[in-house]
Amino acid sequence: MQDLFGKIRKVAPTDSTVLIQGESGTGKELVARALHNLSKRAKAPLISVNCAAIPETLLESELFGHVRGAFTGAVASKKGILEEADGGTVFLDEIGDMSLALQAKLLRVLEEQAIRPVGSTKTTQVNIRFITATNKDLKAAVRGGAFREDLYYRINVISLEIPPLRARKGDVELLVKHYLRKYSDDMGRQVKDITSGALALLMDYGWPGNVRELQNVIERAILISDGDLIQPEHLPQGVKAGDEFTRHSSDRKLSIEEYTKQFIKEFQGQYNEKQLAELLGITRKSLWEKRKKWGIAKD
Ligand SMILES: Nc1ncnc2c1ncn2[C@@H]1O[C@H](COP(=O)(O)OP(=O)(O)OP(=O)(O)O)[C@@H](O)[C@H]1O
Ligand SMILES: [Mg+2]
Repeated sequence: MQDLFGKIRKVAPTDSTVLIQGESGTGKELVARALHNLSKRAKAPLISVNCAAIPETLLESELFGHVRGAFTGAVASKKGILEEADGGTVFLDEIGDMSLALQAKLLRVLEEQAIRPVGSTKTTQVNIRFITATNKDLKAAVRGGAFREDLYYRINVISLEIPPLRARKGDVELLVKHYLRKYSDDMGRQVKDITSGALALLMDYGWPGNVRELQNVIERAILISDGDLIQPEHLPQGVKAGDEFTRHSSDRKLSIEEYTKQFIKEFQGQYNEKQLAELLGITRKSLWEKRKKWGIAKD
């Protein structure tokens, strides 16, 4: 992440187009905002457009604007985002979802810095810095014919790759602490810390939804905790179960018997009988029998 921050600071003041790539929830929008705020355009507008959320025909008139009578319902002329953002930055999110027709029009804007509203014959010069983002593999889209190669090179002058959260374990702890403080304050609670057991589970989890998922997990944990500490039982089942299994099965090749034994020993302090049995996928009776056989009953 330090690398990424360094790169953001370096490229922010330039007018180069930036392509931000990363899985959903990794912070692409946040990075786009940082790029804008650290640029000399910071006082001018930053306008974000989610290309996947707006139907194609509407997206064109949203971006380029339209003149009165350009299409049914165009009762008045309207300035487009590209004109509103003149002097500033436009962030095109999910650019991989833009239609080929609109890609051609966007390419022209990038090359000529000129726009023509829908239904108009006049072009207007604009000065815009473009930042784009996608969670798709754009190179593959180019190969498959769904994304224009010339546009790809044009938007990819500088490329910022945000790694998924599971690849930056150090950030998990920082983010957990950050969001504990934030949500505690927001909710008027005093849950400002987390047990090492619970933190270990969060560090080991795979975070398919990245930072956004982590936010939700912490918010929920604070909501359901009644003391001032987040404990493993305040975490969703998926966070607890998935990881214990991966952690244990990946680093050692154990027989099922041995695995079960180690598992019980390690987690019997953290979970009650019902939870342990559930995590192991066995009945409570069977758990009790195993403990008795191995002499590892809790008390
Ligand atoms: N380094 C970070 N520190 C604090 N919060 C972060 C960080 N990275 C991301 N977030 C938060 O995570 C959430 C998701 O970030 P963001 O919306 O930027 O992700 P995204 O990559 O644009 O996701 P999507 O692809 O789903 O649009 C936001 O609430 C953002 O504030
Ligand atoms: Mg986003």
